[in-house]
Amino acid sequence: MAHTRKDQRDLTAAERRRFVAAVLELKRAGRYDEFVRTHIAYYKADGDGGLRTAHMAPSFLPWHRQYLLDFERALREVDPAVTVPYWDWTRDRSPAGQPWGEDFLGGNGRRGDLQVTTGPFAYGTGNWTVTVGVTEDRFLTRDFGRPKDPIELPTRDELAWATGETVYDVEPWNSTSPGGFRNRLEGWAPGRGNTRWRNHNRVHRWVGGLMLGGASVNDPVFWLHHAFVDLLWSRWQARNPGAGYLPAVPPPVGSAQHGRVVARDEPMPPWDVTPAQLADHRHLYRYG
Ligand code: CU
Ligand code: CU
Repeated sequence: MAHTRKDQRDLTAAERRRFVAAVLELKRAGRYDEFVRTHIAYYKADGDGGLRTAHMAPSFLPWHRQYLLDFERALREVDPAVTVPYWDWTRDRSPAGQPWGEDFLGGNGRRGDLQVTTGPFAYGTGNWTVTVGVTEDRFLTRDFGRPKDPIELPTRDELAWATGETVYDVEPWNSTSPGGFRNRLEGWAPGRGNTRWRNHNRVHRWVGGLMLGGASVNDPVFWLHHAFVDLLWSRWQARNPGAGYLPAVPPPVGSAQHGRVVARDEPMPPWDVTPAQLADHRHLYRYG
């Protein structure tokens, strides 16, 4: 039976409490930090050599689909009623509203060291010490809107710039792909400020703090953000039934992207699963 992922704004207080409790239990058991490690290990950029699967690559969407599924499975081993909620950042844009409540993800970081001091993931609770990071900070940090150089959450119109694309991805299959749904949703673009970071990337920038880099998984909002990105892909698939994952076949020998990206029927590390096998999620979960 497929389970349902809900809009975080529709969760009851009890559902929020159970989600938080399951996340904290994974953290306590050391399993949460394993997820952080995996994300850091697969945080490869165009400039790095070798295969890119998680970012700056066509498999950005299926990679995070499988990653969320693994996390959700772990949560449901703790509490079978829990699913990963999604955060529609085109709609819930207030730093004072959910998902940033005391009873859910907690609020912004404080001035100075950007430490999150409210909610269940505040360092002071003793339940959320960052042990796997790219800096020495042991506490969760956030910097909503980046006040020093302000940016806004993406709007519905900015999102439409991505979702209106009818081709999944285009050459050269990286952060410089000039069109295609994947790169416009992932959000690499030339320019400065708001134009430099689009959609998915801009949300990481807007939350700030630990959400900026490979260790972004340390902020539980990562999962709610990526569940929404996955929902957007799902809706896009339904609207573009003929537009499958690209590239369909591996880039040829001699191409700069040969051996650098995963084609439709190739396994996508660290799993033995292909993008084609992840195209349809409806037997596993649905969006409510
Ligand atoms: Cu990622
Ligand atoms: Cu991300």
